[in-house]
Amino acid sequence: MFQIRKLSDTFGAEILGLDLSREFDDATYAGLKKAYAEHSVLLLRGQKMSDERHVEFSRRFGELEIHVLREYVSPEYPELYRIGNLKDADGKPIAIPDAGAYWHADLSYTSRPSRGSIMQSHTIPVRDGKALGDTLFCSTAAIWDALPAALKQKIELLKAVHRFWDRYIASRKAAGQDVTISPERRAGMPDVEHPMVKLHPETKRRCLFVNEGFTLSVVGLPAVESRALLDELFSYIGRAETVYRHSWQVGDVVMWDNWSTQHALTVDYRPDEPRFMQRTTLMGSAVF
Ligand SMILES: [Fe+2]
Repeated sequence: MFQIRKLSDTFGAEILGLDLSREFDDATYAGLKKAYAEHSVLLLRGQKMSDERHVEFSRRFGELEIHVLREYVSPEYPELYRIGNLKDADGKPIAIPDAGAYWHADLSYTSRPSRGSIMQSHTIPVRDGKALGDTLFCSTAAIWDALPAALKQKIELLKAVHRFWDRYIASRKAAGQDVTISPERRAGMPDVEHPMVKLHPETKRRCLFVNEGFTLSVVGLPAVESRALLDELFSYIGRAETVYRHSWQVGDVVMWDNWSTQHALTVDYRPDEPRFMQRTTLMGSAVF
């Protein structure tokens, strides 16, 4: 069917011997689903999925989201969200530049956080023979396991608020763009509350579910205490022992679990060094 090679001691695996551009049998999909749940991040190198096939392959893992930032989805296949710094002939960005340069889980700010994302790389910046724009992944299941008992107990029953727009506006400002969000658009993506610790329905492992990108505050705590608790938890995210650093090659397909991992882009390339990726986003369930 395919071979599995681990990417780190704690999580992540490379799948070898599978060409995603061609359809394969149900048993292979079942094997991939099992590996996806078990390893949280799957890497498949040297792939050439067409846009149509990317969507079709992704659908085998669940229903797909269409990203709220409609200006950055593919016109032909809106399930494909475009990330990178490419522009059209008129100089208008066709993708969201430098998205996710902070620890986050995709769509944690929605009431049903995304199950996972499936990204294919199309253009990767390379300087002096070295690929730039690595993505860091960490295991929120491993982080939960490593938390001190007292901290686990403290957050076990707490909830936190997640918000999309603040982060979006801040990242656009950092890129020199001034964006205003209409009240209607803001109302379409309101703040949500999630338990700070969630049980992964497939692996039955507990996962820390707060992230630097979108988690705003802890419900029921005074502002100072809330900030201190979040900062303490964020300090566990990105520690070397729970991180897998992915150096991209053109044709990489990476499937990550948004419930048991977080990720962050490393922006070490210039705006004139082209980078282009497309991703589908698997809808979440009410269970998580
Ligand atoms: Fe992301």
